[in-house]
Order: sequence, then C-alpha cells, then structure tokens
Amino acid sequence: MSPDVLKEHLRQIKYPGFSRDIVSFGIVRRAAFADGVAEAALALTSADGKVAGFLRGEVEKCLLAIPGVRRAVVTVETAAATRPGAPAPAPSRGGEFRQVVAVASGKGGVGKSTLAVNLACAAAALPGRAGRVGLMDCDIYGPSVPLMTGVSGPLAAEDEWMIPPEKHGVKLMSMGFLVRGDAPVVWRGPMVMRAIQQFVQNVRWGALDALFVDLPPGTGDAQISLAQTLPLSGALLVTTPQQAAADVALRGGLMFGKLNVPVLGVVENMSGFTDPAGVLHRIFGEGGGRRLAEKLGAPFLGEIPLLPEIREGGDAGAPAAVASPDGPAGRVFAGLAAGLLRRLEGAAG
Ligand SMILES: Nc1ncnc2c1ncn2[C@@H]1O[C@H](COP(=O)(O)OP(=O)(O)OP(=O)(O)O)[C@@H](O)[C@H]1O
Ligand SMILES: [Mg+2]
Repeated sequence: MSPDVLKEHLRQIKYPGFSRDIVSFGIVRRAAFADGVAEAALALTSADGKVAGFLRGEVEKCLLAIPGVRRAVVTVETAAATRPGAPAPAPSRGGEFRQVVAVASGKGGVGKSTLAVNLACAAAALPGRAGRVGLMDCDIYGPSVPLMTGVSGPLAAEDEWMIPPEKHGVKLMSMGFLVRGDAPVVWRGPMVMRAIQQFVQNVRWGALDALFVDLPPGTGDAQISLAQTLPLSGALLVTTPQQAAADVALRGGLMFGKLNVPVLGVVENMSGFTDPAGVLHRIFGEGGGRRLAEKLGAPFLGEIPLLPEIREGGDAGAPAAVASPDGPAGRVFAGLAAGLLRRLEGAAG
C-alpha cells in the first residue's frame, strides 16, 4: 500500500472546526505501510494539545479501518503557538522573525491591507528598524500590497531564492509580484497553502524584528495555512464601527482562538470623518471596535479616522504613514506601530 493510498483515506478527516481535510492542509507529513503496520506522522504548528489528541485518535481509527492494516502508529509533532513576546522557533530557512503579526478580520473592505501596509511602514520608520520589517501579502486572489506600496514585479531571484523588494524600509512579498497584470488567480485551497509556504520558505527575508501579514477576508484557507506554516505572535483584528462588521470580525477572532493564535488587539478603522468645518460625522456608527475587544477579551488599540489622505496614499503607492508622517494619519499609525512593538518586545524581555 503506497503512501498516496494511505493519504487518500486520511482525506476523510477534517481539521476540527474547518471544512478542509488534514491532507490538503499539509498536516500529514509522512505515511507508510509495511507488514500490516500503517504509520502516519502529523505536524501541527499551532494547534493546542486537544486538537493534537483528537487528530491522533481520528487518524488511528481511520488507518485501522483500512483492510489489511493490523496496527497503526501515529506520531504528532506540535510546536506551541508563540505567545506574545516568546522567542519564535526558526520557522523559515530564508528568514528569522522575532515577531509575526497577522492583520485580519472576518470582514472584507474594512482596511486590513491599509493597516498592514501603514503599520509596516510606520514600524520601519522607527529608529533602527529600517530593513528589519517585512510585509507578506497572503491575499493570494486579490493582493493589495503592490498597489498600496507602488512596487510591482517581476521579482528578482537568486538560485532557488526569491528576493523581496524593499520600499520605505519594508521588505515585501506578494502574489502580485508573481502574476502578471490582471491575470486572475484561480487556485484551490491546497495551492494557496503552498504559495504561503513558499513565501515563508523560499523568500530571502533575512533577520526581521517584525513580519506583518496581510490576510484576505474570511476564515478560510489563507488563515489556517498561515497558522500552520508560521508560529504567529498573534493577530490584530480590524473592524469598522458598525455592529454588522464587528459581528463578522468576531467570527474571525474566534477562529484564531481555535487555532491557538492569540488576538493581540482590536483596531477600529473608519471611525469617523471630521469635515473641513471641524464637525465629526460618525458615518459608520460608533463603538464596534470597543465592543469587539470586550467580547474577545483583547485590548482595544485605537481608532483610525476616515481620512482622504489614507485612501489617496493607498492608491498612489505612498502610504500615509510615510507620505505624511506628521499628519493625522501618520501620527495614528506611528503610535500604533510603536505601541505594538513595545508590547510584543516588552513581553519578551
Ligand atoms: N481610514 C481610512 N480612511 C480613508 N480610506 C480608507 C481608510 N481605511 C481604508 N480606506 C480605503 O478603503 C478601501 C478598502 O481598504 P483595504 O483595501 O485596506 O481593505 P481590506 O480590508 O484589506 O479589503 P479586502 O477585504 O478586500 O482585502 C481602500 O481604498 C482604502 O484606501
Ligand atoms: Mg485587503
């Protein structure tokens, strides 16, 4: 019985809480059969002990149900998720990441990419941080990082390495550097997983104080793939102030909980618009960010107002954090970036 046949059987097993199976997520590292004994090795990057125990049981049951298998030997390797500040195990051949921060929300269009890009730029603008900050765009189908940073492909390569272009002191990687122009990316889940693994393993990131990761909306392939590939310091959740957005972001936050990834905090974006006469308009309502933080038991990190300069900077490839660091947007992003690094690194000390 070949490893592929065993893996075909193991495809019946879904990762707890997700609809995807453990084989397509790359959790089954090895499978072998000899003399009636089936072996399987599972590798979990960030699952808690309960998930590991559950999967071991399921895999054993599944193997023993295959005709001809008399005994099943299942090994599970787990690396606990990095707590904020804990030193990350070396997860990548091409990079050493002291902190890895995912920027996420269940909800689309709330400003995840805007926050990820501006936070990375603001972090790299802090003293001594230029070139020590990375931004990995895991929105494989709709990458925003090329437009928002003004960097496009093709990518430089050296042997098997991809060299991340650097802009505003930030090392960048995006699917947008690899596919041409408007060509749609029509990939299935396992390919998303492989793309993310390549971004981690085959990019010469070097030593980074912080790697920010821009995630697509939803609670799907990219999120679980990332959590399985890299030990995350945690996730930042973005929401707009209205209840509907905060409810969807809550599902995103709970998903990270299932993956044993801590929620580092909640950022409310598009919090209000101050017109030229100085009157504040709460266009998207009020309070969603604080309520979400409360529900998740995570710190509320602050509000980003609706500011034309943020949208303009995003479209022009000149993020507000660096285009006008002393403007209202620049100051907010600088404060968020400095506070986040202080907290993560403080916890490590
Ligand atoms: N605070 C803000 N003020 C003004 N415009 C903003 C603000 N935040 C985001 N935008 C604009 O809103 C649009 C959506 O933002 P962005 O692409 O960052 O959202 P997203 O959550 O990453 O979306 P997706 O779910 O599609 O990945 C962009 O055009 C961006 O420039
Ligand atoms: Mg985005």
